[in-house]
Amino acid sequence: MKNNKIALITGASSGIGYELAKLFAKEGYDLILTARRLERLNHLKESIKATISDITITTFTEDLSEENSAEELFRKVKEQNLNVDILINNAGMGDLSYFADSDIKRLSTMLHLNINSLSKLSRLFINDLKNSPRGALINIASTASFQPVPLMAAYAATKAYVKSFSLALMAELKEDKTNKVQVLCICPGVTETEFFASANANPLGLPEGFIASSEEVAEFTLDTLKKGKSGVAVHGKMNSFVALLSRVLPVNFSNAVSLYVMKKLIRA
Ligand SMILES: NC(=O)c1ccc[n+]([C@@H]2O[C@H](COP(=O)([O-])OP(=O)(O)OC[C@H]3O[C@@H](n4cnc5c(N)ncnc54)[C@H](OP(=O)(O)O)[C@@H]3O)[C@@H](O)[C@H]2O)c1
Repeated sequence: MKNNKIALITGASSGIGYELAKLFAKEGYDLILTARRLERLNHLKESIKATISDITITTFTEDLSEENSAEELFRKVKEQNLNVDILINNAGMGDLSYFADSDIKRLSTMLHLNINSLSKLSRLFINDLKNSPRGALINIASTASFQPVPLMAAYAATKAYVKSFSLALMAELKEDKTNKVQVLCICPGVTETEFFASANANPLGLPEGFIASSEEVAEFTLDTLKKGKSGVAVHGKMNSFVALLSRVLPVNFSNAVSLYVMKKLIRA
């Protein structure tokens, strides 16, 4: 009887989550994929199944910005008697705007998706992860978690939350010597996905070599997991350098640089 490990990936309908689904399928994981666009998830499922037949893929549509959506997703997973070995909290959104002009409904949607649902899913599935011989929690944060980002003030703060939350949870779990759960906080830099269009941004204002592909970020995530690492992992040498700089630069200076760069990215 096949006994594949199960990876639950949120935000699997596009970008980094989509590529993660393909990679984890190749590794022999059964998949639980979720996002709002079910037709995209089912299309992804069919394309994976066309080449990899010995895994099971379950898709659930869920709007994780809704109040009880994390609980609802957990309920659906348990209704199918599934236990999750790896939870990848990838779904997220951004908003590029002056905070004073930002849309309050969109702000609330982002805070719920990036913070509330990520935290609640982590809490709901933590016992599954603990009961797994190779449990892992992978939270997708961002290099925006390392410093304030004017014009993405709330978004960057949500990612700082994700980083802080992940590191604290890692410490709590490590206290138990029998714990095997890997907690990974992946920090991609600018990545070519649908993120920018939906965040009202245009990454074309950035210098060449600054933009990664979603395939690269997904591969980095899987490699880091396979190396058995826990903690924060920044994708790319340039991003790692910028993350390091942010620890030593005065905030007024880094704010001025960020503001300059972000103004170039805002869609006219
Ligand atoms: N792209 C970048 O430059 C970059 C850099 C650093 C970090 N990140 C982070 O990487 C993660 C993945 O983003 P991406 O770049 O791959 O962007 P993306 O292509 O826009 O993918 C975002 C995913 O999240 C899902 N999603 C959005 N709103 C949702 C909601 N309300 N409920 C449920 N699912 C929702 C989307 O699916 P549906 O629309 O079908 O729901 C989609 O599958 C995010 O957490 C983002 O903050 C991105």
